[in-house]
Amino acid sequence: MDECMKTGVPCTFALIIPAAGSGTRMGAERPKPFLEIAGKTILEHTVSRFLPFSGLKRVVIATSGPWVGFTSDLFKGSEVEDILTVVEGGQERRDSVGLALEKTDAGHDLIAVHDAVRPLVTETEISDSLEMARKHGAALPGIECRDTLKLVGKNGIVEKTPDRSRFRLALTPQVFRRELLVRAFEQSRRQSVSDDASMVENLGEPVMIVKGSETNIKITWPSDLILAEKLMNEHGLLPGRKEIGKQIEE
Ligand code: CTP
Ligand code: MG
Repeated sequence: MDECMKTGVPCTFALIIPAAGSGTRMGAERPKPFLEIAGKTILEHTVSRFLPFSGLKRVVIATSGPWVGFTSDLFKGSEVEDILTVVEGGQERRDSVGLALEKTDAGHDLIAVHDAVRPLVTETEISDSLEMARKHGAALPGIECRDTLKLVGKNGIVEKTPDRSRFRLALTPQVFRRELLVRAFEQSRRQSVSDDASMVENLGEPVMIVKGSETNIKITWPSDLILAEKLMNEHGLLPGRKEIGKQIEE
């Protein structure tokens, strides 16, 4: 359970949650992190996955201006309140992560960046990523591509069929030694990046892949809400729900 202590070396981490997107593909009346599943916001579900880890010393949530106050209120009276900082995010996801990073300090050995809209992240993905980043500097969960990949060129003509076995889909949490992530941000200010790990790759530093979970989905489209609730129920992540299902079966 206690990833950072497993090898006898204590370490601390700060959790950065980018939650400042507008949820265009979802098309809901509020941004995705604030939609509810079984009476709780997706953001609360997501944060709660990290609470069993005693190395967690700070949670920084970056959200859009109108939702900053709402987010602070959401965690009032919860065990997160004392270690929570809420900041206003930026235009791009990386801007939101960068602004949140400024609220962490050198007292945090590792930084875990995790999408607000991945409430199904598993304990193993978190602990493996933390442990691997502690050892090697940077790590993230990845999953194999189930379909064949095609590199498509002009006019929709396939140029190449790359070796699928060497590709991984990048999930979160992406975990880094703090000094490494700070350096990566400094070096790539004007570059456009699609995830945090790629900035570290651009420094020429190793980024390790750990085994990701197929169920660690990023809630993106409306149908994902139904899927996420179903998966949470199956995984016993909705208190009370499983018991109800069981009673009906029996
Ligand atoms: N995010 C962020 N700041 C941004 C853009 C995105 O913090 N400027 C966050 C989102 O809130 C989400 C995560 O990054 O938790 C992953 O982004 P994505 O799934 O693309 O969410 P949205 O950008 O909100 O959705 P869409 O692309 O459909 O608009
Ligand atoms: Mg987006």
